Amino acid sequence: MNALTTNGASGARRFPEAFLWGAGTSAYQIEGAVNEDGRGRSIWDVFSHTPAKVRTGETGDIACDSYHRVAEDVELLTELGVGAYRFSIAWSRVLPTGRGPVNQAGLDHYRSLVDELRANDIVPVVTLYHWDLPQNLEEDGGWAVRDTAELLAQYASVVAQALGDQVGMWTTLNEPQQSIHQGYRVGTHAPGRQDPGLAAAATHHLLLAHGLALQALRAALPATVPVGIALDPHPFRALGEDAEATVAQLDADHNRVCLDPVLHGAYPTEAQPDLLPPDDLIRAGDMEAISAPLDFLGVNYYRPHYIRRGDWSQLLLGESPVPAHPGFVEYLPPECPRTVMGWLVEPEGLHETLTRLHRETGGLPLYITENGCAAEDYVNPDGEVNDSERVDYIRGHLDAVLRAVEDGVDVAGYFHWSLLDNFEWAWGYRRRFGLYYVDYGTQRRLPKRSAAFYSQVARTGELPALEPAIDGRPLAPVD
Ligand code: FCB
Repeated sequence: MNALTTNGASGARRFPEAFLWGAGTSAYQIEGAVNEDGRGRSIWDVFSHTPAKVRTGETGDIACDSYHRVAEDVELLTELGVGAYRFSIAWSRVLPTGRGPVNQAGLDHYRSLVDELRANDIVPVVTLYHWDLPQNLEEDGGWAVRDTAELLAQYASVVAQALGDQVGMWTTLNEPQQSIHQGYRVGTHAPGRQDPGLAAAATHHLLLAHGLALQALRAALPATVPVGIALDPHPFRALGEDAEATVAQLDADHNRVCLDPVLHGAYPTEAQPDLLPPDDLIRAGDMEAISAPLDFLGVNYYRPHYIRRGDWSQLLLGESPVPAHPGFVEYLPPECPRTVMGWLVEPEGLHETLTRLHRETGGLPLYITENGCAAEDYVNPDGEVNDSERVDYIRGHLDAVLRAVEDGVDVAGYFHWSLLDNFEWAWGYRRRFGLYYVDYGTQRRLPKRSAAFYSQVARTGELPALEPAIDGRPLAPVD
């Protein structure tokens, strides 16, 4: 039996009692204050200040000014009624050059954040590394060199000793596959390298960094404190039998390249050889460190990818080439809604991902560490943000989570991405993912309609049934 019940006539369905509700952010995306209190530069400072790297030319210099608004932002979480807050620590605030002397002011900032959260009964959930490598370390070779992995572990020890008594859960890395792929292979994220050799080396060093940080955290923390990693496996779907082999290849190249080492201690032999780290980078003991048992797996889920045969010289509507796979295209089925990012909205992909990971992890607790959508949010003349797309997105994805729970998957919590609109990397501020709307001119935060909906679910643990459709479109009750 599972812990679910249906709530009689209202048709609402209930999440398990202990389910953890939260919202997430990351340091560079919200903090601003890039030159304050001894913070060192990170690769994102340099990247965002390089012309044409961010579409809008914007930077995280000010962002949501959250560095100066600890109490105000914690108040938003209290208003939402969530039990946990996932945020990341900026390595270069704690160790401005990535190594060496500790910057106490940087640690004090995070200390005040965790204290404020605890004072409001909100569990702090820390990500050690959400893409903002200290620039000095990049200049010494970045993730392409082994030292960086060892330095992440040293940074992990410093943070764990300073905050370990108050932090409820830790994740080592956020989406290492994006650091590898966007950071080193295609160059759309910092540090903007386009070098397959560096990307293959970064693969091993990021995963090793995870393994070494796991050891460092475990050495510094009580055994009861859960430690994990946040990965972003994307479902790839074949449209037609002739796309199945390509889909298996994409799954190995983009998903299993991180999942297999972490869960099973080996790189997938099916991955394209040039994506895998050369053998001489892998030292004795590395794979054991990388695959040390986790307490939980964090899952970031946004969308699936449909793949079919297609002619690159005559692309049809909704098609784009699949790099390195001539004759194959990614396809956006017109019947499937998409967000302003152009990302398909398909909750079933989350259900599928959770079920797969349940199987592959042997039943490890899973937390959805990120899930959410960008929308064309605006403040209407009544001063409200009616983001009904986001309400639908959340409802649909929470329904998928509940179905996974009903199927016996141990899903222990959900963190909505994001608490508030923020600096969406190479998209700048033009993509809004928040439950709270941020007016960047005044830094005023305004709850969107989705905040009310999410808050209702988080407070009651119940997912309300869909209301009858109006104009053929289901409407979500939010009151
Ligand atoms: C994820 C990132 C997060 C945010 C969302 C939209 O890949 O981890 O910082 O940008 O995408």
